[in-house]
Formats: sequence, structure tokens, C-alpha cells
Amino acid sequence: MRGTPPRRPLPLFRSSAEDPADPAEPAENPQDPAETPGSATPGPASTPLPRLPISAGAVMTDQPTPSARRRFADALARHESHFDLTDAPGTSTLAAWFLGPKAENQQLLEDLVRSAVQAQADDRRELYPDDPVYVTEEMKRSEAYQQDVKNLRGEFETLLNSLRGSTPAWSYRFQGHMNWDLTLPGIAGYFAGMLYNQNNVAAEASPVTTLLEKAVGEDLCRLLGYAVGESWGHITCDGTVANLEAAWSARNLTYHPVAVAEAIRREAGLAAARDMTVPLPDGTERPLLELTPWQLVNLRPNTVLDLPTRLRNAYRLTDDQLNLVDRYTIQHLGYDSFRRFLKDEVEPGVILASATMHYSWPKAAAVLGIGRDNLLPVGVDLDARATVEARRELLDECLRLRRPVLLDVAVVGSTELSAVDPLAGILDLRDEYAQLGLGYPIHADAAWGGYFAAVKRPKPHNGKPRITPDLAMSRYVNEQYDALHRADSISIDPHKAGYVPYPAGGLCYRDKRQRDLIAMGAAYIDQGAPVDTNVGLFGVEGSKPGAAAAGVYLSHRVIRTDAGGYGRILGQALFNSKRFYAAVRTMARPGDPFTLATCQRIPAERAPHPDPTLVEEELAYISEHIVPKRNEELLGDHKAMKRLRELGSDQIIIGYAFNPVVDGRPNTSLKVANQLNEHIAQRLRLLPELVEPRTPQAHEMPPLIVTSSDFDPALHGREFIDAFCGRLGVVGEDPLTPVTYLISTTMDPWMTDTADGDFIPVLVEALRDTVVRCVEEMNLTP
Ligand SMILES: Cc1ncc(COP(=O)(O)O)c(C=O)c1O
Repeated sequence: MRGTPPRRPLPLFRSSAEDPADPAEPAENPQDPAETPGSATPGPASTPLPRLPISAGAVMTDQPTPSARRRFADALARHESHFDLTDAPGTSTLAAWFLGPKAENQQLLEDLVRSAVQAQADDRRELYPDDPVYVTEEMKRSEAYQQDVKNLRGEFETLLNSLRGSTPAWSYRFQGHMNWDLTLPGIAGYFAGMLYNQNNVAAEASPVTTLLEKAVGEDLCRLLGYAVGESWGHITCDGTVANLEAAWSARNLTYHPVAVAEAIRREAGLAAARDMTVPLPDGTERPLLELTPWQLVNLRPNTVLDLPTRLRNAYRLTDDQLNLVDRYTIQHLGYDSFRRFLKDEVEPGVILASATMHYSWPKAAAVLGIGRDNLLPVGVDLDARATVEARRELLDECLRLRRPVLLDVAVVGSTELSAVDPLAGILDLRDEYAQLGLGYPIHADAAWGGYFAAVKRPKPHNGKPRITPDLAMSRYVNEQYDALHRADSISIDPHKAGYVPYPAGGLCYRDKRQRDLIAMGAAYIDQGAPVDTNVGLFGVEGSKPGAAAAGVYLSHRVIRTDAGGYGRILGQALFNSKRFYAAVRTMARPGDPFTLATCQRIPAERAPHPDPTLVEEELAYISEHIVPKRNEELLGDHKAMKRLRELGSDQIIIGYAFNPVVDGRPNTSLKVANQLNEHIAQRLRLLPELVEPRTPQAHEMPPLIVTSSDFDPALHGREFIDAFCGRLGVVGEDPLTPVTYLISTTMDPWMTDTADGDFIPVLVEALRDTVVRCVEEMNLTP
């Protein structure tokens, strides 16, 4: 076989002197003239790596030998530093981060995509240069080839046309789901990675993109406040699978000490550890083998994760001996066989999760065989945040009934209202219950909210203020983000508030040893390898795209995960969402055929017994001092900025509902209000008839796109429903009637300072027209 020639650097990017459109060069931003260009430098990829060592002793099988795996890992580790994101230079010109609502950066995107194709083509030609071509010029001249190419182009054209029926997520008018434009580095990285079609299940099939995934996992951990080195993060296909993995590892963690105790008791090879002691949650130290099953399932997560290391170090047990534990685990036996170790002293475990949980949680409970009934919803307060008091009641019940808490899930940014649960209080509560003998892991479902931690991370370069200010989160929300690093695991999805292409969810463990509990294979064997060669061992997925890692990686390199990068995008989106909230909240004018209520209360409505006069005064202040002001004016008004910060949701999703006014009297029937909101939602969403064949001209597009949902009284509780209906001025005919409301997610960082100024008035006017038309069409009579 002919050898591989030495690689020469790929001319991926021309130097900025040659090409003013160089993406690494700070672009001019006509809408953000005050922005300070960052110290952007090309990423490390501008000096290509030598091809990573598939031949480093590893064989391309699913089960390489440990020594081959180790050699391969060592070889990979030598290249790891190329991809470290710790000191990613980042860039600072927001205008160069997205394609733009009118494809303003088309040329830049074309250049990036063309470079990726060029690099791919060069690579194919340069590697094994003496190998023959297959597609000859003669073939290309053949009629069949030419016809097939014509067909391909035709089919592609048809697909491109069909895709025009997709949701215009990039538009100012798209204020619906948690989805918006993609970052240019996210697209370019994904596209380039996709051309290589790497499979990140195992590094042998993806030597470069596995390192990229590792770098991204570490960067996500860093963003969340986890200690790099001790923690571990990886990319999953989505938030659903991230949550499933968190539930899976937590369940295994809870039952693990039972397996260890059982194995030590029965296996001669583990006899040396029979006198091992462990700390109980209340701090007392007791011999492991004397603990009851209830005590064993209630150790603190750290205590459980320490067990393998302690067995290895204190009792000098070998890997083979440690592996004897495996066959006693719930992972091996399944609950039905495992439960005999629990001796009827422990009832089936539960997962606690905020009532606002995403439906990935019932899925996880079902898939793990825990059962949906054992997923206990924690009641919410009037801000749709799960309360510590409601948790306390459930924990008391768990104690009384001897039901272990497999996992307690705090939602940090709920799917429908971006409500942030009181994570700090939830973590403190665990300490309190530790004294009563309860130990359990806590997961933060920050699949949506995780990237908002960037707003709080200091940026290395300070830019001058911009026209759209990035807004800090409210005091309450800040407190919860300060506590994130204390959660045992966190889901955080780059394909949500990381603005990168699907599929890219993410899961991080505070202590990387937690992933060993779900590892397929010898969980106890700490190979001590510097790089995981087989990421697929530690999660649900098998094959997965290296392209996703490449997309997230490049995005994090160019847009740092701190206040200067993602924090700017999300800080500006926060500001815009709050401005949008203020405008919607005050949009009803005297004589309008509707009133409205927002799911998130204004501060005056948060009093135990809101005073209507104070509510009116606050609304008048918002109408006068916030809604009509330009961003610069607002920025200069300290009081208004302070009040803006406390408006709207915990993040950037707001909820609201309208109520028709008939002959000057607001309707009082929930059923009628629901009909109106369903009607509006129908008008403001993309309908199937718009999809095929859509051209923007062929159908009337909604002037604004929102989404809708229902509050279920069984989940949200009477207090929440009654308070919201009270603000809307309606009562339910039946206490179980769900309440329909509209949802707007504002991920758009620039809609309040477009080239033509603030776009919110356009959106609110469109909303008003739609509401008025819908009320008229309902033909209501008093
Ligand atoms: C809080 C939360 N968790 C988990 C998920 C599930 O994420 P995915 O849709 O990527 O599976 C979502 C999705 O919206 C979510 O909002």
C-alpha cells in the first residue's frame, strides 16, 4: 500500500489582508456603531493538524483491547490542547454572528461554506494522491450522467422551494417557539463537520470531532460553574436524552450502595472491604455492612461516588475484584430481581420535578421503568416556579412511606414560561433533609436556561455600551444561577439558547464519576485514560454526528460563553423580551374590544392583595417611561431600567391571554376567553395550507408568529389558575377547564434597534389588529 504523504496546511482562510470578508476579522456593524471590535484571531484550525492516529495501535472494532485503547487515547491527548476553549479569543461584533434577517451576511456564509467544500475537496485529492479517480471526465460527458445531474438539480430545486414553507425562525416576527436564527460559526462548523461525516460514538471513528466534543463538554461545565477536571459534559442528541441520562445515572446512583454492600457480603474477592465505613447524610460514620437498605439508598451522592475509589485505594482491590460489584447492580438485574436486596424495607423510588417540567421527564420515568405515577409534580407559585414548601410536603411523604428520592429535578428555565425554580432553596432543603436521613441527587433541567449563565460570566474584553443593552437577570434569577454549580447534574442544550443547528443537547455532571454508573461495560475500571476513546459508553446514544460537536465548538470559539459572547446575545434578548412584555402588557386602550392579562405579573400585582390603583399607576409608568422610549433613552433612565429588569419572565418567554369586551363589559366566562385565545393562536401560526407550495406571496403570512398552550389546573394548581383567571377577569365553568394562553419567545437580540428603529410597535400593532378581528369574528352578544 502506498504511504500517506506529509500534510500541508490547508488554505482554509486567506489572511485578512487578502480578504476583507475574512470571518476572523471584526466586521463593520452599521447598526452597532459603538461596538468595540474584539481581539478576534483565527482559531487553531487555521494550522491544520496532522491526521490523527487511526494507526496508533487501535483497531477499528467496537471492542479494542485495553492497551490499544490506551495507546490511542494517549495519542489523542497529545492533540487535545489544540482545541481547548478556555482561552478562545472570541469576537465581539454581534452583526457578524448571524446571517441576518435579510441575509445581510450572505456573502460571508457563502465564503465559509465554499471554504468547507474546498477543504474537503483538497483533502480528498491530497490524501492517497496516487489512488485512481472514479468519476472520469468521459463519464461526466455521458448522457446518463448529464441527465442524472439535471434530475438532481431539479429535485434539489423542488426541495429548496418546499423548504420555503418552513417556519421563518430568523424573522423579527417569529415570536413563538424557542428557536431562532443560527450562529454563522455554528452553521459553518456543522457544515464542514458534516462533509467528513464523523461518528462520535468512538474516537477511532472520529478522532478530531471527539476532541471537539470533549472541548465543548468542558466549556459547558465551565459555563455552569463546574470545576474542569472534576466534572464531565458531553453532547447528546437533545434535551430529552440529556434528561433521560440524568435520570438513569441518578437511579443507578441511589441503588448503588445496596449493590456494593451485597457484593462485599457475598463475594470472597471483596472480603477485604468488610470493615469499610461510610458517612451517613447526617455526618455520622457507620460500617457499610451494618446499614439498613433504607440507609443505603439514602447516602449522599458524593459518598456513593467515592465508593469505587475508596475500595481501590484503601483495600487495594484490583479491577477484576471491583467488577464483582457489577452483577449486583440494578443496571444488571433490573428492579424486579434487585428489590430482594431491599428486604421490603424500601418502597419504590420517586422522582420529584417541578409541575412545569418538560414532558421528557414522564418519558424518562416510563423508559426507566420507574413509572409515570412515581414522577411526583412539585406545585408552583403564582410565578409558575415550583416552591420549596411543596417540595417539603413531598419529602415528608417520602420519609414517612420510605420511598427513596431517586432524583429531585429543578427546572431552570421552563419550557413554556421560562420560569426558574428556586434552585438555591432546593439545594439548602436537601441539607435539611440530610439530617433526617434522606440523601438524593439534584438535577437542574437547564436544557433551555443553561446558556443564560453566560450573562453572568465576566468577559475578557470590555466593549463600549451598545444601542441594545444587554440586561442583567433579576436579583432572584441571579441567585439561582449562582447555585447552579452545586447541582449534581445539569442539562444544557446548545441547540436551544446556544443558537446552533440541531441536534445538540448537552448533559454535564458535577462529578465525572457519575457517568460511570451508566457505563456499559466495566464501570469500575478507571482506565486513567486522558481522553475517552468511547464516548458512546457513557450515554443512551450510539452513533452520533461529529458535525454537531464541530458546530458547537466553532460557535463557542467565536462567540465566547461569557458576557462578551453568548451573554451579549442573551442579554440583549432579555432586554428585548422585557420591552416586548411591557408593550404587550399595556397595549389595551380605552374602548378596545378586549382586555388582557400576562402570566408574569408586574411588581404591583405581586403584592399579597394587589391594590388596583397601584397596578394602574405602574401600568401608566410603563406606558409612559418604557414603551415609547428609544433604547438610548431607556439606557439613560436609571429608574426605568431598574423597573424594566423586574418586568416579564425570568428569562425570555412571556405568556399572555386576551378577554373579549362586549358592549363595554369584559366577558366573565373562561370558555369564551379560551375560544378567543385559540382563535388568535390559529391566526398567528403557520397553518398546513401555507406549507405547500408556499411562496411568501402565495398566501397571507401571519403578521406575527406566536404559539399557545393550556394551563392544566391539575398541574398548575388552583391557586395559580384562580389568580391568573382573576387577572383576566374570568371564571371557569368547570374547575378542571384548562386555561388557554399565548406564548412569545424572544430570542432575537436586535429587534429593538433595527436599521429602522424599534420593531416592537410593528409587532404589537399586528397583535392588536389580530385580536380585534378575532373578537369581531366571534360575534359575541352581551
Ligand atoms: C426545560 C426543557 N427540558 C428539556 C427539553 C427537551 O429538549 P429537546 O426538545 O431538545 O429534547 C425542553 C424542550 O423544550 C425544555 O424546555
